[in-house]
Amino acid sequence: MNHVFAAAPDSASMSTQQVKFFSGENVPLELHKVRVVQKLHLVPLERRLAATNESGFNTFQLGTKDVFLDMLTDSGVNAMSDNQVASMLQADDAYAGSQSFTRLQSAVEDVFGKKYLLPVHQGRAAENVLSRRFVKPGSIVPTNYHFTTTLAHIMENGGRVLEIYTDEALKLKSSHPFKGNMDIAKLEAAIATHGVASIPFVRLEASTNLIGGQPFSIANMRAVRAVTQKHNIPLVLDASLIGENAYFVKQREDEFKNSSIAQILRAMCDLADIVYFSARKVSSSRGGGICTNDKAFFDSIKDLVVLYEGFLTYGGISVREIEAMAVGLRETTDETVISQSPQFIEYLVNRLDEQGIPVVTPAGGLGCHIDAMGFLPHVAQKEYPAGALAAALYIASGVRGMERGTVSSVRDEHGNDVLADAELLRLAMPRRVFTLSQVKYVEDRLVWLHKNRDLIGGIHFVEEPAVLRFFNGRLAPNSDWPQRLAAKFRQDFGDSL
Ligand code: F0G
Repeated sequence: MNHVFAAAPDSASMSTQQVKFFSGENVPLELHKVRVVQKLHLVPLERRLAATNESGFNTFQLGTKDVFLDMLTDSGVNAMSDNQVASMLQADDAYAGSQSFTRLQSAVEDVFGKKYLLPVHQGRAAENVLSRRFVKPGSIVPTNYHFTTTLAHIMENGGRVLEIYTDEALKLKSSHPFKGNMDIAKLEAAIATHGVASIPFVRLEASTNLIGGQPFSIANMRAVRAVTQKHNIPLVLDASLIGENAYFVKQREDEFKNSSIAQILRAMCDLADIVYFSARKVSSSRGGGICTNDKAFFDSIKDLVVLYEGFLTYGGISVREIEAMAVGLRETTDETVISQSPQFIEYLVNRLDEQGIPVVTPAGGLGCHIDAMGFLPHVAQKEYPAGALAAALYIASGVRGMERGTVSSVRDEHGNDVLADAELLRLAMPRRVFTLSQVKYVEDRLVWLHKNRDLIGGIHFVEEPAVLRFFNGRLAPNSDWPQRLAAKFRQDFGDSL
């Protein structure tokens, strides 16, 4: 193992990295310096209006030449560290037996404590393989909350997802520290109702994405583990956002306040039979993986990896990315690496909350989540308020967010929209990408938008793909509201971008 690139962070960098300001102001401080930069373009309002139309009111369809701050996702767009970039130069190109893979394997073993690793090209590839292996027609998969691609793969194999969240999870305004917890009594009841035979595994998602990046506690995971162990049901952990979950455990769960992030990561992974992850999120690179200490699981899955992903020592990932994954995974144990994004999110969430803008609280991982139904109470849910707000924010600022509401949902067997539990506009905060003045710009434009919210109307589908429609669907406004919003922008901001 190359000790320069792959060394675990030293103990000094494992302590809590909160710097107090003499002024008393709570300012998140960047504990890194910027060494490589990319120029951004804030295109004029007219171009933003045109781009909104060309993209079919779907921010996934915008080109980055028209985007100022890209807050669509944190997936594959986190900043790479110098050590990650350096590690890519020592990649060992080989179809089979690459030493790059060996380095990844040892990082997975050190950080997640799992001996057997199957590489896959990204998180949903892990979901494809796991669903093909475990899910059959009629299967039920209990989870703290589904993720879009997880649900699609489970459904693709004839299964169903059962959301077993606590009463607190869907309360957008809350002070509950662990809204990602699973309700243990409901889990027991679900097992009693559906029977062990129909439950191939129980799935826990770290920093539960669709409810606002909300963590679960280790106490809760232990309780879930006790139930699954009693019934001999495998526990699968989606670790795509495990760094953030670990950060919140350290901040919010008393038992772990003096533990290192490395210890917390191990405590979570030790409770799971299978851990899978999107490396695009967890280690700020590409790729993904499935890991376990159970040789029988490993053996029963590996043929599917060879069939769908690639040979067992690359799994559809380039060796350069494998090197960056290995270093990135080790860096996930460094609190200075994983804390900046949650701290910036907390800053933005608290500032918006203070100014009466409805946001999901407490601040979670991944991004700031705006409650679009609270923001736009006059837009009916069937007119996709979160999608409309995403388009309006882009017009007002060039900031690209992501709709996480009914557009990201599915239709039922009668062709009716399944209205989402919440209509959220997600503003992702990739790791170490933005500066605080950029975050303040987002805050400023949201405050302006909120003051002018009555000008924003609904949208409707004009082209609707059958699967994961939010990626490639096209929508249109229900009135000329985008023009009216733009006119008000001109009035208030004049020639300013
Ligand atoms: N699981 C979780 C919790 C995720 O957040 C994602 C991706 C996946 C699985 C799938 O991983 O993209 O590598 O195939 N989330 C991204 C997002 C797409 O923007 O939230 P993938």
